[in-house]
Amino acid sequence: PTQRGWVHETIHQYQGFWFETLFMQGVVAFQKHFQADHDTDILLATNPKAGTTWLKAISFALVNRLRYPDTQRHPLLTVNPHILVPTLEIDLYNKREVPDLTTNSFTSRRLFSTHLPYSMLPISAKNSTNCKIVYLCRNPKDTLVSFWHFCNRLRPMSTSTGALSLEDAFDMFCRGSSGFGPYWDHVLGYWKESIEKPEKVLFLKYEEMKEQPIANMRRLADFLGWPFSPEEEAKGVVNDISKLCSFNNMRNLEVNKSGKGSLGQENNIYFRRGQVGDWMNYLTAEMIKKLDRITEEKFHGTGLRF
Ligand code: A3P
Repeated sequence: PTQRGWVHETIHQYQGFWFETLFMQGVVAFQKHFQADHDTDILLATNPKAGTTWLKAISFALVNRLRYPDTQRHPLLTVNPHILVPTLEIDLYNKREVPDLTTNSFTSRRLFSTHLPYSMLPISAKNSTNCKIVYLCRNPKDTLVSFWHFCNRLRPMSTSTGALSLEDAFDMFCRGSSGFGPYWDHVLGYWKESIEKPEKVLFLKYEEMKEQPIANMRRLADFLGWPFSPEEEAKGVVNDISKLCSFNNMRNLEVNKSGKGSLGQENNIYFRRGQVGDWMNYLTAEMIKKLDRITEEKFHGTGLRF
């Protein structure tokens, strides 16, 4: 089935989830062709607006810290994180030809990202023990508000139907028909896997990362099998990476203020407020009640809460 889209004219339901029709080809090609066959592959997975850009920056800096030890002269200062860590179904597979992913000039370990739910990942990504998956989750209210703003920034590029109202966005989000939604099913797929296979899937929360960025970066480095050494700790490497990737630093870089991405979008759309709880400025009491109730029902008994 097809429904009205958030950014483009329509979204399309496929294998239980919703996708902007424009990305369908990329979704199918990624599922069919991607081979997680390198021992060191890392897949970053998120719902849109969960903090993907931030996770990309941090992971890139961590994985390449020997190659780019100087955070004053770092690729992240001049290249947007979405170029350094491409999204498989959007940047790489949504093309006529199947891409050759054997080389990536920027990074020593293959580092990709995806918005696909766990159930839809290619078998090789799920089955290979060495392909590590990092999932970043954000509370549903901030995710919705961030997504609504984001889509309205993109809409003029793709539709002539004017702005998407918060009421319409809210209804579609609650019904599950937002890009890569239903939000809750997306989160739960990775959550369950992270409990069953903690060595394979790391589950991070945006809110915890904001509160304790350094501790979470250490967790991420440990999970990737490359903890910070005592020498690195003494040199303050983790602090440097944290500062490099912080919202204020990233947002004020020229490339992120005025550069453009692969689909022609302005890079600054990925850096809006970068805070926890901005939903309070937008959602009505009724909306909050409804969204909290759905979240409570969906996450009941799973051990997951915000
Ligand atoms: P807001 O719209 O609430 O500001 P994604 O990267 O998945 O598209 O998510 C974008 C959201 O992450 C936006 O949220 C954006 O401001 C926030 N964000 C981007 N870079 C960040 C960073 N370095 N630190 C914290 N939040 C960041």
